[in-house]
Amino acid sequence: MKIVFARDYKDMSRKAANIVSAQVILKNDSVLGLATGGTPLGLYAQLIEWQRKDDISFRGVRSVNLDEYVGLSAEHPQSYRRYMNESFFNRIDIDKANTFVPDGTAEDLQAECAAYDRRIESLGGLDLQLLGIGHNGHIGFNEPGEDFRMNTHVVTLSENTRRANARFFDGNMELVPKQAVTMGLLHIMQARRVLLVAGEDKRDILLRALRGPVTPKIPASILQLHANLTVICCCEPF
Ligand code: F6R
Repeated sequence: MKIVFARDYKDMSRKAANIVSAQVILKNDSVLGLATGGTPLGLYAQLIEWQRKDDISFRGVRSVNLDEYVGLSAEHPQSYRRYMNESFFNRIDIDKANTFVPDGTAEDLQAECAAYDRRIESLGGLDLQLLGIGHNGHIGFNEPGEDFRMNTHVVTLSENTRRANARFFDGNMELVPKQAVTMGLLHIMQARRVLLVAGEDKRDILLRALRGPVTPKIPASILQLHANLTVICCCEPF
């Protein structure tokens, strides 16, 4: 595990963008596992800038997102599909047909989860998985629990997670979906490289996840067992 302490959010975003960029330069048909949330926005903005300058191209890249809210259509302003389109995909040269986000409106969510796992396998797994981390230690929407959930599954979001995400729903908890579809820990752990980005407010949970015991009560702690994990954070060193 390599932990890099960046000076500030901008520095963190640029350092992380350098790693994603190197991945795509070295393998232009990389399969990227992507995350949403507030933390990666600076990283996406940096990659957009470099793509516009023609320094990198995403033409051959395939992407697989971590999660999606149950019940939100692709057009919903707070759906993760819409976030990805607006914050990244619409602004780079990626072929949208090669970008995958779970369908939170699928009639048969179990079938959607199984199909999502098959999709990742048919792409040959993830070359690089980008992650944020929740204050409760979730990665994707793998919430704290009694065991590590390996496959893509439907999850009931914790109170903590819904409260944290209410900021994207006009601060109104009522509007935050109660469930989500999330990639499980298997494909995250099988990713050939994992890149975790975290802001200054995540110091406590990073400390517990990376230096404490490996436990499903802190899902991110499983990353200690990953052979190629890079953490870039802009908090006080620990
Ligand atoms: C988003 C995701 C989540 C976020 C986490 C941190 O696709 O999977 O695990 O990475 O909730 O969110 P922010 O960056 O908003 O603090």
